Amino acid sequence: MRQLLAALLLMTPVLAATPASAQTAGNAERGAVLADTCLGCHGIAGYRNAYPSYRVPKLGGQNADYVVAALQGYRAQTRAHNTMHAQAASMTDADIRDVAAYLASQGAPKAGAPVATAAADKVATCAACHGEAGISPAPNWPNLAGQYVDYLEHAIRQYKSGARKDPVMGAQAQAIKDEDIRLIAEHFAKQSGLYTVDYTD
Ligand code: HEC
Ligand code: HEC
Repeated sequence: MRQLLAALLLMTPVLAATPASAQTAGNAERGAVLADTCLGCHGIAGYRNAYPSYRVPKLGGQNADYVVAALQGYRAQTRAHNTMHAQAASMTDADIRDVAAYLASQGAPKAGAPVATAAADKVATCAACHGEAGISPAPNWPNLAGQYVDYLEHAIRQYKSGARKDPVMGAQAQAIKDEDIRLIAEHFAKQSGLYTVDYTD
């Protein structure tokens, strides 16, 4: 696997010219092949997780470093989700980086003008890391803009219950009142940014 990756990197002139970054950046062409199964769920707009029912998250426009962290979390089961654990369990670190590079190669988030919502005061603390309009200033923090409202709600509840373990978001989610979760999720869902990567790409 490693030899194959090295061979692919050598065949890519741009990456070969910058070997140091190529090691961390991942190989988007190889990632496109690996992403084929992923897009069977993530590439279909509105596709649902069966139980509990919420939409499969959009990955288009998501930060590559965050995608890597999320996949490592499913693999290590610090994120509880059987299907995603099964998907990530057999992936090497190189596989994960390559898929993330492929997703990033599909384009930046489609950010638009911020949309004002009733939750403006409730999302003030979130803005430091996720941006006021849900576009994060750092590559290892997720963009929330335009994500499905039911997925955002589910994710916040998982951090709050500890089913998804992250020291930073765990503490943040603890501070969110149950009755505010929907409003906060709606705020970020109404912004523009993330999109569905086209299955036919
Ligand atoms: C059977 C459907 C299905 C397949 C196939 C699938 N996923 Fe997922 N994926 C999901 C669901 C559902 C979630 C949300 C899980 C949760 O609640 O934590 C998810 C979550 C994710 C996340 C986290 C997104 C975020 O915003 O935190 C990433 C990244 C991801 N998947 C990447 C992949 C990759 C890469 C593959 C292929 C190797 C893949 N998925 C295959 C259904 C699928
Ligand atoms: C100090 C930085 C920080 C602050 C403040 C913060 N977050 Fe996060 N957030 C993170 C990090 C880091 C992650 C990724 C954790 C992981 O790997 O699971 C995350 C993940 C998330 C996710 C999951 C996204 C996905 O695609 O699955 C949601 C939803 C979220 N945060 C909502 C919020 C909300 C709502 C607030 C405000 C109440 C908030 N965050 C405040 C850093 C922060």
